[in-house]
Amino acid sequence: MSESQKDKKPILLSGIQPSGHLALGNYVGAMRNWVNLQEDYLGIFIVVDMHAITVRQKPADLRNRCLSFAAQYLAAGIDPEENIIFIQSHVPQHAELAWILNCYTYMGELNRMTQFKDKSKRHNDNINAGLYSYPALMAADILLYQSDLVPVGADQKQHLELTRDIANRFNNTYSPTFKVPKPFIPKAGARIMSLQEPEKKMSKSDSNANNYIALLDPPDVLRRKIKRAVTDSAREITPDSLQNPGIGNLLTIFSTLNDLDVNEVVNRFAGQQYSVFKGELADSLVAFLEPFQQRYNKIMDEKGYLTSILDESAQRARYMASKTLSKVYRKIGFVAPGRPR
Ligand code: TYM
Repeated sequence: MSESQKDKKPILLSGIQPSGHLALGNYVGAMRNWVNLQEDYLGIFIVVDMHAITVRQKPADLRNRCLSFAAQYLAAGIDPEENIIFIQSHVPQHAELAWILNCYTYMGELNRMTQFKDKSKRHNDNINAGLYSYPALMAADILLYQSDLVPVGADQKQHLELTRDIANRFNNTYSPTFKVPKPFIPKAGARIMSLQEPEKKMSKSDSNANNYIALLDPPDVLRRKIKRAVTDSAREITPDSLQNPGIGNLLTIFSTLNDLDVNEVVNRFAGQQYSVFKGELADSLVAFLEPFQQRYNKIMDEKGYLTSILDESAQRARYMASKTLSKVYRKIGFVAPGRPR
């Protein structure tokens, strides 16, 4: 496809924080839809390292994870020829626009963000200003590229709504500047739950590795985690299983991995023991993740290839982002450099 044709496609944009281990929840809630939607959009997929430092990270781990996450985007099926994949800190316009948007975001709005409230509870020794104003940085990520659609899991809905409010506020104060993006939240799998504590969401940074499936878990670990996943005291699958957080979550995971409606999955396994269903779920996971991991290992063996994709993408991203940023600077009254005052 030529550059001009690519530029005409609507923009799909999303990002993941390089913290912990990329997990099945991230794949089902977000990445799967990036892959499925990439045909009809120009995809911009970001490893958001600047977001990740709102929680303390070990520098060497952060550095490794940025490359590893980018490689996993590719292994999941994102086509690097047709899309833009980069590391957030390589494009300085994100920090620059975030500052501006901070001045158009109210503290009352930030106070309502449930993710801030949750994270401040979990990291109460480090409730920093970045953690608080994080939604303005996320709005900058999205608005810099005039994005049309943002595929995310349900936990990001509130941040997306705030992004839309900030965009509308800016557009109404000056004149149309930002496209107001739409969220894409999948009907099934928007909130995959923890394996051991199914009343809370699966999180890639959970301190207990048995709570999540990492996309890079080896087959024996995958099987063990599924076998140990918490269910209830019933033993067989019935239509009521969907109401149970533990087994209901496993049924949802099976349905998304096999592209089936969850009710079809219930019908297929109705009357069967949980252990039989869990065995088939583990088989599906291994069948999906083994080839994924092979592709990942191959990409990580050719680091030069990966860094060249990231470099070229960042260059394109800087160009696109600078167009929006200079428009914003002009509208708010900043003097363009080099002009007589
Ligand atoms: P993050 O890194 O927490 O999660 C990445 C993506 O995975 C989705 N997700 C889930 N989906 C289903 N079930 C789960 N258990 C689950 N856990 C996570 C998230 O909804 C998300 O789509 N602020 C964002 C990253 C971000 C971003 C952006 C996203 C920064 N800038 C611009 C979109 C557009 C975050 O912390 O996601």
